[in-house]
Amino acid sequence: RMLYGSARLNSWGVNLADPAEREPLLAKIKQAAQQRWVAGPIVSGQLLGAGGVEVRNPANRNEVIGTVKDADAALVDKALAAAVSAQVEWDATPATERAEILEHAADLYEERMPELIAYCVREGGRTIPDSISEVREAVDFLRYYADRARNEFGAGARMPGPTGESNELKLRGRGVFCCISPWNFPLAIFTGQIAAALAAGNSVLAKPAEQTPLIATRAVQILLEAGVPPDVLHLLPGDGGTVGARIVADPRVAGVAFTGSTDTAKLIHRSLAQREGVIPVLIAETGGQNAMIVDSSALPEQVVLDVVQSSFNSAGQRCSALRALYVQEEIADRVAELLAGYMEELTLGDPMLLTTDVGPVIDPPSCDMLRTHAEKITRNARWSHAYKLRPEHEQGTFFAPAAVEIEALSQLTGEVFGPIVHLIRYEAHHLDKVIEAVNATGFGLTLGVHTRVDATARYIASRVRAGNVYVNRNMIGAVVGVQPFGGRGLSGTGPKAGGPYYLHRFATEQTVTINT
Ligand code: NAD
Ligand code: ALA
Repeated sequence: RMLYGSARLNSWGVNLADPAEREPLLAKIKQAAQQRWVAGPIVSGQLLGAGGVEVRNPANRNEVIGTVKDADAALVDKALAAAVSAQVEWDATPATERAEILEHAADLYEERMPELIAYCVREGGRTIPDSISEVREAVDFLRYYADRARNEFGAGARMPGPTGESNELKLRGRGVFCCISPWNFPLAIFTGQIAAALAAGNSVLAKPAEQTPLIATRAVQILLEAGVPPDVLHLLPGDGGTVGARIVADPRVAGVAFTGSTDTAKLIHRSLAQREGVIPVLIAETGGQNAMIVDSSALPEQVVLDVVQSSFNSAGQRCSALRALYVQEEIADRVAELLAGYMEELTLGDPMLLTTDVGPVIDPPSCDMLRTHAEKITRNARWSHAYKLRPEHEQGTFFAPAAVEIEALSQLTGEVFGPIVHLIRYEAHHLDKVIEAVNATGFGLTLGVHTRVDATARYIASRVRAGNVYVNRNMIGAVVGVQPFGGRGLSGTGPKAGGPYYLHRFATEQTVTINT
């Protein structure tokens, strides 16, 4: 089988168990966290951040951590004009040079890891271990796409043929790409989209999520410092429905890389279909209704460890997170009992503390939606268990991790984006019905399987329409270049981020025929 790339590209982790590594890192994170940050449009290298509105810490809504100024229509127009004219030269720049700039950015991200972690914790509410993974994933995207560009966007492929001419097939940038990202991976996905678009020879207008403009501003500053030409990359913070929609609707935009909810992807798709100008490409990575199927041969203790990781890590705010836990009847009570016990041991609190397992959810609307769902779904539940909130949780948007038994997956009408796992019992002879129900959601992102019967794992994996299948482990944290990530159906268009085909969708092909 073909082996793509090399794992040597992946960044090194941090050994938090070793005080010699941990303590200096924590000291630097704390120091960086003292800052009050500024976000705003960055157009042709100029940050226009003065006079912005306050950004608050999700773990303590009383704490203002920075300000953000949104882009207006005139700035969108200015950025687009600059990006259009700069793209031709950027596309003509040898792919090796573009790759070197992205690799330099990766080095700078690693060098500034403590500062970037501080942003993830205070603006995104992510725990420190989670934030380390976030920075590492961003670094991995930069290096991986640089490597793919060097390999595939350099010299064109020589085509064979009987014509007596020289025929060369090259990959070229499409033009201006609009990169629209979500708040839940405010650095990794934000950087990954931009890195892919730049590596392939496009110029970029980046529209970060409303909730996380501060880290996006810092990331763009670092990318520019690494050598991305100022007219090639612009940052346009602001509301999705106004700033995002305005960029998408502009006929000068050749492609949109979007990660976010399925509903927003559909809106963007509609807008692109209706507008004038070039026929644009849309890469959409969207939501999931992810299940784990656990049969009676599985080890309940291992299952529960992986369920807790999959459902509650990042406060359940991962597109890959587990939402529907199918457990075979024979071990369902045991799994529920162990899960409730484990949940009692979790620490919900300030993500700046290493003792915290689960941080806050991103903002008050998210918290309200989760509370409404939890109240409704637990009303007639056969079993449920929830973490007990304490008075100190009131200052932030903390939602108590919860597990609730439901009758059928069809009771979940949409993606429940937070730390709630829904347990559903099934009988062994109904496995095909379980698979049918999972496929009937229309989503197809991640799937977990716990079984000690290989044939069962293979049977399920080959019948469930999920983009990423994980057997006998947790189902989050796909590794760039190792576990290419992305779904199908309502979960996205593909190609997979961190995979060998991703850059191709950002590119167009050109055949050059020379009569020699
Ligand atoms: P969202 O759809 O609300 O917003 C995503 C981005 O789209 C934001 O930058 C927002 O400003 C922008 N936007 C909103 N309306 C727009 C419009 N009309 N035109 C242009 N842009 C617009 O999603 P979110 O709440 O930020 O993120 C959470 C969602 O993202 C979840 O559904 C999650 O599953 C999904 N997600 C998917 C993946 C994946 O790889 N499949 C990864 C992370 C998150
Ligand atoms: N790539 C992210 C994960 O696998 C979404 O959790």
